[in-house]
Amino acid sequence: MNRKILLALLAFIICLTGCSRSPASKAGAGARWVIGMSQCNLGEPWRVQMNADVAAAAARHPEIKVIYKDAQNDTLRQRAHIEEFVSAGVNLLIVSPKEAQPLTEPVARAYRAGIPVIVLDRALVGEEYTTFIGADNRRIGRAAGEWIRKVTGGKGKLVELKGLMTSTPGQDRHSGFREAIQGPGLEVIFEADMKWLEPESRKEMESALARFAKIDVVYAHNDPGAHGAYLAALASGRHKGTLFVGIDALPQEGQAYVRQGMLSATFLYPTGGAEAIDTALKILQGQPAPKKITLGSRLFTPENIDKGGEALQ
Ligand code: FRU
Repeated sequence: MNRKILLALLAFIICLTGCSRSPASKAGAGARWVIGMSQCNLGEPWRVQMNADVAAAAARHPEIKVIYKDAQNDTLRQRAHIEEFVSAGVNLLIVSPKEAQPLTEPVARAYRAGIPVIVLDRALVGEEYTTFIGADNRRIGRAAGEWIRKVTGGKGKLVELKGLMTSTPGQDRHSGFREAIQGPGLEVIFEADMKWLEPESRKEMESALARFAKIDVVYAHNDPGAHGAYLAALASGRHKGTLFVGIDALPQEGQAYVRQGMLSATFLYPTGGAEAIDTALKILQGQPAPKKITLGSRLFTPENIDKGGEALQ
């Protein structure tokens, strides 16, 4: 290699190292701020949609650049991602955490180091972050229980397929639901933690079907869970006579399942991606941001889906 090429190569390497220490310059022309987005996984359509919503909102603001990391449903990897963003010196963090407890500390450390943090969808323990954005999962769980009470006339055998119970939406969708179904008529005969995952849910539903001859309603904490349960029932020829209820209501997922007659109801769980970018801009511009932003929900059933569902009261 001649001297000139060697020098050019050296200059290039020096520039690369320098750039990695300064995210704002890495962002390219025009971007004043770099936002690190830590996503707990991209295995489910809802999370792909969240990132797409963040990207669409960010695309309207050339002054920001978003860098994405996908923890692939691994808490330790997500902790490392948050630390990497902090040492890279991002201007703001958006974190959609897998679990509450283990991700509280790395987020708190970023926040204490002066990096504003927006926590999206799943909550953490305590208040060491800038803003939390998400829907009221307890209210959604309660609405699901009330809807089930209404359509069953307050009598029936229920299966509850829970989301990851170390995450706050799982805990809240469970407690809200249990509040609403209290009383003698509605009985939960089988419950399991399907960890938000369709294959897990399908497996758990196979056990429920093997153990119980009559299942009136399946309440799953998300639409992949409700769909997995439906497929298990379909495979054993027992899908008729059971109502399947889910949460998320993405147009291409839960709402489509309602249209196809697989789900009897699904409740909207907005991703909050656009709101996260709006809030990020406020914070970066030095404006005050609320500690908590609660997003609304809607109920979709075969009867109301063509009208766009109905808002939860
Ligand atoms: C996707 C998901 C959604 C659910 C949300 C809860 O990972 O499981 O289906 O509504 O997370 O945090």
